[in-house]
Amino acid sequence: MTYLVTGGAGFIGANFVKYVLAKHPDIRLVILDALTYAGNIGTIADELKDPRVKFVKGDIVDSEVVAKIFSENEIDFVVNFAAESHVDRSIENPQLFLETNILGAQNLLENAKKAWSKGKDESGYPLYREGVKFLQVSTDEVYGSLGETGYFTETTPLDPRSPYSASKAGADMIVTAYSETYKMPVNITRCSNNYGPYHFPEKLIPLIIKNILEGKKLPVYGDGTNVRDWLYVEDHCKAIDTVLLHGRPGQVYNVGGHNEMKNIDIVRLTIATVRRLTEENPEYRKALKTAPENINDNLITFVKDRLGHDKRYAIDPAKITAELGWQPETRFADGIVKTIRWYLENQDWVDEVTSGEYMKYYEKMYANR
Ligand code: NAD
Ligand code: DAU
Repeated sequence: MTYLVTGGAGFIGANFVKYVLAKHPDIRLVILDALTYAGNIGTIADELKDPRVKFVKGDIVDSEVVAKIFSENEIDFVVNFAAESHVDRSIENPQLFLETNILGAQNLLENAKKAWSKGKDESGYPLYREGVKFLQVSTDEVYGSLGETGYFTETTPLDPRSPYSASKAGADMIVTAYSETYKMPVNITRCSNNYGPYHFPEKLIPLIIKNILEGKKLPVYGDGTNVRDWLYVEDHCKAIDTVLLHGRPGQVYNVGGHNEMKNIDIVRLTIATVRRLTEENPEYRKALKTAPENINDNLITFVKDRLGHDKRYAIDPAKITAELGWQPETRFADGIVKTIRWYLENQDWVDEVTSGEYMKYYEKMYANR
């Protein structure tokens, strides 16, 4: 099997590349990534030495690049991670999100359709090579925002509210259109918030860890009571691989771990865990750029809220569990410690990914908050 993995140098894509290479000895991967600010080739440096892996630097919106990949490789699976993924950036520059997330998905679908279809049936629908599939990595944010109770299921109407989630919903709709109109074998997975190694420090958990280590203020939007449903990234990767191999074509699968937390509780837990780990292990203290006594709740600062800030997300993953037997394996209490340890041990990675535009982004985004 040959997988085309787009966005394989980003957070979840890179974790997926590592996961499937270890899990399936006989696969080949073509990784397509534009290496935007969020993509880092160093994250997958070891995997790029593997003879099973090819890397193409390019844009999913570029038809020539994508057509060339399909003509030079017999692709069986497309797993589309590539996207602009940060809600705050989508509020600043919505157009880029529509271009990458919607037009990019459509360009991949169109090229996959051309490469995979072999003639037509009597009604005019394309017939596809056996065993191929297109998997769109989507998000629970397409369902909008929940009140105090309830869960998102696969039949919850789409109700995106940020430019990011609107662009992801647009991508889901074009994927569904290719499934209905051209009978393309597709799946869509909609996952809740991921956390784990290689998470870019613009997102809440890695940003908080980075700021704690530097003794910087921890910006909590609004009153900190917004709720997110956190899943360890490797569990998400396992879910995607399961759906790719066993999901019924045309189906949507929600992915989540029943792990809702208020942002303020995440921040407090992260402070306490960094403090404990650095007290226990002198090696970890080397990651500190501040005095250990500064690591406390006084670092928390409540700042201006995100525009249109969704209140609560909560995924009901009953379908993927019942149909495909997938279950989350990492409890949040363990996953967050594993994640913080990883950041304490991998400060070089953090320095590398934040050496470019990051400081400019940080100053601009948090200046008026
Ligand atoms: P990320 O921002 O860390 O990585 C995105 C990757 O895509 C980067 O490597 C970047 O270089 C690449 N990319 C961006 N634009 C591209 C383009 N035009 N052409 C080719 N490559 C391009 O994102 P992530 O957090 O790893 O998310 C991956 C996918 O999972 C996204 O589609 C996102 O919507 C979805 N998702 C993320 C989460 C989460 O919690 N992070 C949860 C559910 C779904
Ligand atoms: O739910 C899945 C989505 O999760 C994915 O589709 C997105 O790609 C991913 O970025 C993530 O979106 P969120 O907006 O939920 O993640 P973020 O880490 O940006 O924010 C998490 C919560 O923390 C959210 O309520 C906003 C808040 N927050 C975030 C940042 C960056 C803060 O309070 N302070 C911050 O500095």
